[in-house]
Amino acid sequence: MPFLEVKDLVLGLKGKNVTLVDKVSFSLEKKEILGILGESGCGKSLTGFSLLRLFPPGIAHYSGDVIIDGISLYKLSEEEVLKLRGKKVAIILQDPLSSLNPVLTIGEQIEEVLKYHFNLNKNERKERIYRLLREVGIPDPEIRAKSYPHQLSGGLRQRAMIAMALAGEPELLVADEPTTALDVTLQIQILELLSELNQKKGLTIVFISHDLGIIRWIASKVCVFYAGEVVEMAHTEELFNNPLHPYTRSLINSYPKEGKIKKILKGGVVNIYEKPGGCRYFERCENPCKEGEKSHPELVSVKDGHFVRCFRYG
Ligand SMILES: Nc1ncnc2c1ncn2[C@@H]1O[C@H](COP(=O)(O)OP(=O)(O)OP(=O)(O)O)[C@@H](O)[C@H]1O
Ligand SMILES: [Mg+2]
Repeated sequence: MPFLEVKDLVLGLKGKNVTLVDKVSFSLEKKEILGILGESGCGKSLTGFSLLRLFPPGIAHYSGDVIIDGISLYKLSEEEVLKLRGKKVAIILQDPLSSLNPVLTIGEQIEEVLKYHFNLNKNERKERIYRLLREVGIPDPEIRAKSYPHQLSGGLRQRAMIAMALAGEPELLVADEPTTALDVTLQIQILELLSELNQKKGLTIVFISHDLGIIRWIASKVCVFYAGEVVEMAHTEELFNNPLHPYTRSLINSYPKEGKIKKILKGGVVNIYEKPGGCRYFERCENPCKEGEKSHPELVSVKDGHFVRCFRYG
């Protein structure tokens, strides 16, 4: 049984019949890193939050389940989910200021998490806080623990958020564009930190990004999202060497390589509120097929571990 299994997950607007994430399924083995790739508005973040059973205002879970280490997240009570959140699965976001509390020091915030999940005395908590800060590469943890979020540089703040996410000793970390707001050097440092946490501590990671280069570097397996659906899924090198879906191909061709861009992907993602009945990529497809106009393609297995949602295959 895989460590993480997302099964036919459907999310949508609360009280309305509008789906935003449509029958998304994927699985991940322990210690693996899954990359979720796709343009803005494709449903990457909603899917990421759903792995913690968290939803932005106005969004609801319609159906499907998320199974983490054999536990069905959507069959638990609210109370059980609270215990699991932070402990089994944690999340880090693009903007640490939105997830850090401005009126508490970094040390105090980490302490809150420790108090909630573990039975430790004051001294043990202090040692644990310093260890966590050291682990994420924050120098002088005794001093830094007393800093407020706004007193830290962008890179250190991102590291503090990671320390807070790790405080509950989660086995799964959802990283939603954690480096998008950082400059290139800091970006690489944070990516290296996450990769190290994966390799040394066996942390399983779902890494969300619209950046192909980052996904290719960090992930062992990739899901490509388009208009709320998975349109292609494969092991990373297979996906980049042998992309099948026209959307994946266009994404790769739009990505600068040695200072050149092969072909820019034009247009935008279909309006998610007026999804066409047929293939959702039909309007933008370079090589549209007849079936795609009216019928909606299923995700089919092309070869071992490689799946695609396109009538030209399978
Ligand atoms: N709270 C909300 N209320 C209404 N619609 C929402 C809400 N949150 C997201 N959506 C819609 O759901 C769709 C998916 O949003 P999501 O944030 O998952 O996209 P994303 O792939 O993460 O995009 P980005 O790359 O811009 O972060 C979008 O069309 C978005 O407008
Ligand atoms: Mg997002």
